[in-house]
Amino acid sequence: MPDILEIESELGINTKAAIIESIEHPILDHSGIHLHIKRDDLLHPIISGNKWRKLKYTLLYALTKGHEHLISMGGPYSNHLHALAYIGHKLNLKTTGLIRGEQPTVDNYTLADMKKWGMNLKFITRGAFRDLRKYRNHDAEPAKKYNGFWIAEGGACHDALCGTAEIVKEIELDFDTLTLACGTGTTLAGIARTIPASKKVLGFSALKGGGFLENNIKKLLHMKGMPNWSVNFDYHFGGFAKTTDELTSFIEVFQSHNNIPLERLYNGKMLYGLLDLIKNDRFKKNHKVIAIHTGGLQGNR
Ligand SMILES: Cc1ncc(COP(=O)(O)O)c(C=O)c1O
Repeated sequence: MPDILEIESELGINTKAAIIESIEHPILDHSGIHLHIKRDDLLHPIISGNKWRKLKYTLLYALTKGHEHLISMGGPYSNHLHALAYIGHKLNLKTTGLIRGEQPTVDNYTLADMKKWGMNLKFITRGAFRDLRKYRNHDAEPAKKYNGFWIAEGGACHDALCGTAEIVKEIELDFDTLTLACGTGTTLAGIARTIPASKKVLGFSALKGGGFLENNIKKLLHMKGMPNWSVNFDYHFGGFAKTTDELTSFIEVFQSHNNIPLERLYNGKMLYGLLDLIKNDRFKKNHKVIAIHTGGLQGNR
């Protein structure tokens, strides 16, 4: 039976590094809001933030069942596939990444790393990629086709909830609300399931029209209502991977006040949205908020 602590140590995961820091920003002056950030981006330089949280128990399950080939899907800049390729490289496992769209003539940094770490890259049409999203189980069609262990897009599966729950268990500071960026909503679901009933988790969708997100979270949580969580859809800045000058300058200002790197796809949007809600008095005075930095900084290249 593989030992998860040994695997973490082999990969160099350091949960002690994922500290909580206070945030400085002009919007917070006189706001009466206490804002901190949990630096999950510091868990590991490559398998950072929610990437490890989501993959941890899925990987343990795969290894327990004796699998040596992990297969998953993602875009050409996917943080998830990037982390998976590195895990395969470090643990001597075969990995295959099914990549959305045509093979570029020149590899971007993410694809180049994935190749360097031995991931077998297969480029598939957007239609075929969309179709793959329906496969959730580890033994689903792509597992059979490529002869390995299938992990759904973004690591979105039930085992991921146990890993993301550990983010909450590491938080020793009192809080009223946790916030984080959402793609599939898996990280939010694991957190919603773990926080006490008196606390809330607020997600910020990185995608435009992410209506599927709420359904996905409800499905993962096996619940109809939304007792302690919600998702804000107002700060996607035009859609996934889209950006604006306003977002870029927000990130620059944020980084000039805090020694905390941000990327534009997820964490920059979440913090912009959160500070905008604070500016517009959407939280009660003395509200204690902890934002979770979900990593993904490799995308900045
Ligand atoms: C850096 C980063 N933050 C947030 C998310 C969104 O996480 P989830 O898909 O669990 O909502 C992702 C995607 O997995 C990500 O790469």
